[in-house]
Amino acid sequence: MKIKPVALQIECHPYAQRNDIREWVKPYNIIIECWYPLGHGDKGLLSDPVIKTIADAHGKSIAQIILRWHIQEGFSVIPGATNPAHIRENISIFDFALSDEEMATMRLLNKDKRFFNMSIEQLDRMAAGRF
Ligand SMILES: NC(=O)c1ccc[n+]([C@@H]2O[C@H](COP(=O)([O-])OP(=O)(O)OC[C@H]3O[C@@H](n4cnc5c(N)ncnc54)[C@H](OP(=O)(O)O)[C@@H]3O)[C@@H](O)[C@H]2O)c1
Repeated sequence: MKIKPVALQIECHPYAQRNDIREWVKPYNIIIECWYPLGHGDKGLLSDPVIKTIADAHGKSIAQIILRWHIQEGFSVIPGATNPAHIRENISIFDFALSDEEMATMRLLNKDKRFFNMSIEQLDRMAAGRF
């Protein structure tokens, strides 16, 4: 390959932090762009008690803590939101910072749990525009 990719788009959120692939691309200085950054709205992730404790300490929501974690990990993050209140909330994450200790706590939440579980056959159909 002659042209180095600038960004790698992968599912990535606190429950699937993708440490293996992040290490793999590190030498190439490729930006990780996270899709499903809020776990596709997973109720368990968005009510996680550990994140809630951090959220309460900052007077922020769990979603805001997750998005701030993405930013401080150096990811490019573009959450999906149709609710205007969510959109407002999701851009209000630049007036606080997570401490090193809080970042370490967030990293412990990884359990390699991914929410996008499409079969190869379904992916083939999607690629062919038949989804
Ligand atoms: N490149 C790829 O292969 C790929 C694959 C999958 C997805 N994507 C893209 O990645 C982006 C994000 O995906 P996604 O939207 O499915 O996942 P997401 O951003 O992880 O989650 C979106 C869900 O979280 C909810 N949400 C957003 N902000 C919230 C908040 N502050 N509090 C509580 N809930 C909140 C949304 O609800 P409301 O809608 O009610 O606000 C929605 O249900 C999309 O643009 C999608 O197209 C790319």
